[in-house]
Amino acid sequence: MDNRPIGVFDSGLGGLTVLREIIKEVPNENIIFFGDTARFPYGPRQLSEVRRFAISIADFLYNQNVKLLVIACNTATASALPDIQARFKIPILGVIEPGARSAAAATDAKRIGVIATRGTVESKAYDNAIKNIDDKIKLFSMAAPLLVEYVEEGILEGDLLNKAICDYLKPLFKENIDVLILGCTHFPLIENNIKDCCDGGVKVISSAIETSRDVKNILTKFNIENDGKSKSQRIFYETGSISKFFSVGRMFLGEKIKEVIKIDLGI
Ligand code: DGL
Repeated sequence: MDNRPIGVFDSGLGGLTVLREIIKEVPNENIIFFGDTARFPYGPRQLSEVRRFAISIADFLYNQNVKLLVIACNTATASALPDIQARFKIPILGVIEPGARSAAAATDAKRIGVIATRGTVESKAYDNAIKNIDDKIKLFSMAAPLLVEYVEEGILEGDLLNKAICDYLKPLFKENIDVLILGCTHFPLIENNIKDCCDGGVKVISSAIETSRDVKNILTKFNIENDGKSKSQRIFYETGSISKFFSVGRMFLGEKIKEVIKIDLGI
């Protein structure tokens, strides 16, 4: 048993969609969530810059004595997962391999599409993850930066959003994909709009559920679960505007966020 918290971070609020699944899977765990809202979005930035941000946040969370770290951001996973894993002697999970694993299990046609940030697409992290699982699967990628902006602003419905979704997906449908990976942790918030555009013909996969199962398996494997004797604590840090965290964050997490601590990592 180990009552230290789990650390979870994202560039913004999207990582709360992963946190929501982690809380469902391991409700007794203490959590520290970090949203780097001051430097959001990571997607258009150079991967080397995102790596620097991600390592600073991982250092911060490690110093908060976390027992396990989840990089709940595809762009940060794509740029920094191996570096962060090499840096600390605690289990570190990203969201790309779990999403690729679910998608590979779901495709019959062996043709998968992924929508993600430009950084994630250019890193080819999904291409590599899929190739490692099954090199006969073809992956088709589309950067969808506008959707990230809509979601972070809390715009989760409307004609403009739906048109943007369908415009991004059209070229992927032309490739006859039968599975679509939501390769950005913001996208589960507009999953229904995305499914509407897919019109039932394509299975939509998000990595949040698979990642949360991995979290549970690791806690069990290393015997580091919380003993569950006291009420679990959730602490939220962010680098940008706190009011947004309260309003948009609640919608993401599906439960009230009581307190957010503003922090400047001096990056
Ligand atoms: N949440 C980030 C991801 O999963 C995307 C947002 C951003 O561009 O910072 O890639």
